[in-house]
Parts: sequence; structure tokens; C-alpha cells
Amino acid sequence: MKFVVADRISRLPSQFFSGLTRRVAAVQAAGHDVINLGQGNPDLPTPPHIVEALRRAVLDPATHKYPPFRGLPKLKEAAAAFYQRTYGVTVDPETEVAVIVGGKTGLVELAELYLNPGDVALVPDPGYPDYLSGIALAGGVAYPMPLLAERSFLPDLDAVPEQVWDRTRLWYLNYPNNPTGAGATPEFFQHVIAKASEHRTLVVHDFAYGAIGYDGKRPPSFMAQPDAKEVGIEIYTLSKTFNMAGWRVAFAVGNRDVIEHINLIQDHYYVSIFAAVQEAAAEALTGPTDCIDELVNAYQVRRDAFVQSAQEHGLYVPRPDGSFFCWVPIPNGMNSVAFAEALLSQAHVAVAPGAGFGDHGEGYVRVGLLAPPDRLAEAARRMAMFVRQS
Ligand SMILES: Cc1ncc(COP(=O)(O)O)c(C=O)c1O
Repeated sequence: MKFVVADRISRLPSQFFSGLTRRVAAVQAAGHDVINLGQGNPDLPTPPHIVEALRRAVLDPATHKYPPFRGLPKLKEAAAAFYQRTYGVTVDPETEVAVIVGGKTGLVELAELYLNPGDVALVPDPGYPDYLSGIALAGGVAYPMPLLAERSFLPDLDAVPEQVWDRTRLWYLNYPNNPTGAGATPEFFQHVIAKASEHRTLVVHDFAYGAIGYDGKRPPSFMAQPDAKEVGIEIYTLSKTFNMAGWRVAFAVGNRDVIEHINLIQDHYYVSIFAAVQEAAAEALTGPTDCIDELVNAYQVRRDAFVQSAQEHGLYVPRPDGSFFCWVPIPNGMNSVAFAEALLSQAHVAVAPGAGFGDHGEGYVRVGLLAPPDRLAEAARRMAMFVRQS
């Protein structure tokens, strides 16, 4: 028998990057030394004290039962304490924090919660592709906000037409930004809050790379701005700050109604997250912070190794403010897919073509700083040589 999926499933965008993994594997299978910087999967291990907290918790049979539907109070308290300590933001653990099954799930749930068919969601372009997945499932319409180098990759809020604002229910933002590596300023966030309250739009700030800011600058939290709780929430994942991408744990903080609605939809989808993982996540958020400093330092060393080697070999790479990505303008006029394909087959370096992040990603490739500094320096050298020869 052949089964046909429901309309909402057939609306899902195709996974632009799935072919890349296959092509990398094929080039590797042919015996080449591939430097794979195409993905966003942290390569370093979870800090040992967090792994140890999981081990302890998993040995306690109490964690083997269904956890509370809305997450362990201990984890919500830890998230609130983390926001207080890190950003000076006060949130009530019970009503202003929701435990979510990884940031990606939360982003999709928000579209399901707030978009009726035809409603608009503003998305960054280029941006993290999964915003589009939730919008498509809900039957919503994505309105891309261009992120341009000449505006430091911050969208022009005054460029959105009134008719679009009238239909806008949801607004996704993400700084430090994937893929551009750009950071936001408190002033920008204040402008966002003013626009959002004027147009009664819910802001979802995806703070996935919140911990990763360079040159001693800590990326600002949207929630730290006055009135942010009135208009929005922030999603904080443990995937990047603590190298816990496989653990699938994140939380949302902010507006009470939105937190209640996230809990409501999750009451129907999940029974929260394995309690032992929640125990370990609480340890991550309240435990020693030197692991975060070490991680950020490691990425900064990698960033500098890549940028410097590129420069030495004649390829211009702007330094990102944050995240673990370099957003590299393609200097030879090739389109991003053709460039990435040729770079992989000829120089054995895998990067993500900018077009996969939206129309305004064309002309760039994204390099993940997810290899040791010497490999990144070598990748930059190979890229520069490839450009010179093409
Ligand atoms: C911008 C952005 N948001 C959200 C996520 C999702 O992270 P997770 O689902 O692991 O919490 C990612 C992961 O790569 C990301 O780059």
C-alpha cells in the first residue's frame, strides 16, 4: 500500500543540506583527507562534571519514572538562577521558564501555537532553516527580513510594509547569528521591542549561541532589555554552551502567557525530558563556569587561526562577533552551491552554501569552526588556493 501524507507535511521545505553529508562521505570514501566544516554539530565533549551528574542521576531509580509533565522544578530553578547570574534577569521559575526538548522543537512549537493559516512570521534571511519548518507545518507565511553586510547583518525594521505587520503574529530573531556570526546590540533589541509592541507581535529570540561572543564581549540577552517580557521570550539551548547537542535539552524564558502555552502544547506531545538529563542540565546551569570560558577561548583561537591563515593566503574573511561560524563572501563570482561543490571535490573542504539559508545567503559560504586550529588554518589555505586557481 502507498500512503499519502497530510497537506501540512507535504508543505515542509526540503532539507537543503542533507545532500552535503552524502557528498562528503563519497569524497572521503574515495580516500581524500576531507576537512568537514559544513555542519553545526559541536565537536568537543560535554564537560565531565555534567556527565558525572548524569551518571549519578541515572543510577537513582527515581529518575526512571515519568518525570513531571512540565519539567523538574530543580531545572527551572537552575535556569532562573543562570539568567540572574549571567544576565541580571529575574524570572519566576514556575511561570516564566519552560523546559523544552531542544531549541529546535521549541521553535517549531511556537509556530504551531501562534500561526493560523495565512498568518505571517518574520524570519531572518539568511537564517536558521528550521524556522521555516514550523511556519510551513502551521500553514503560515514566512516574510524574510534581509540581513545585509552593510547593516552589520541587523534587519531594517522600518522596511517591513504596514500590510505585512498587520498579518504578522510571530517574529524570529537570532543573535549571535547563524549563519552570519553577527552580534546584536541592546539598542537594536530596544528598537525590536518598540516595533513589536506597536504591532502586537510576539518576538522569539533564539539565543542558541548566547554564550559564544568574542574579544571579551558577552552577547546581550534580549530578556535583559526593559519590557522584553511584555513582547517575547528567549530560547536558550544547552547544545552549544555545554556541548550537549545530543542531549536534547533547552528552556524558554519570558512572557508568562507564552510559557504557559508552550507547556500546554508539550502536555500533549511529551512527558518532558528524561529526569536524569534534566538533573545533569541543572548541574550544567548552576555548576562551575570555567568550562564556558574555556569553550569560548577555544572557539576564539580557532576563529583567529582560520581568519589569519585565510588572510595570509589572500582570502578575505570577516571576523564574526559570536557563534562558531565564519560567513565568507565568495570572491570569484561563483554561486554558493557551485562554489561549495567545487571546493569539496577539488580542495576537499566542506562548507555550507549560503543559498541554503535564504536568498540573501547567496554569495557566501558558512564555515563551521568545528575542527582544531591547525585543521582550520589548513582549510583556509586550501580555500584561498582554490579561489586563486578558479
Ligand atoms: C540558530 C539555531 N537555533 C537553534 C538551533 C537548535 O539547537 P538545539 O535544537 O540543539 O537546541 C540551532 C542548532 O544548530 C541553531 O543553529
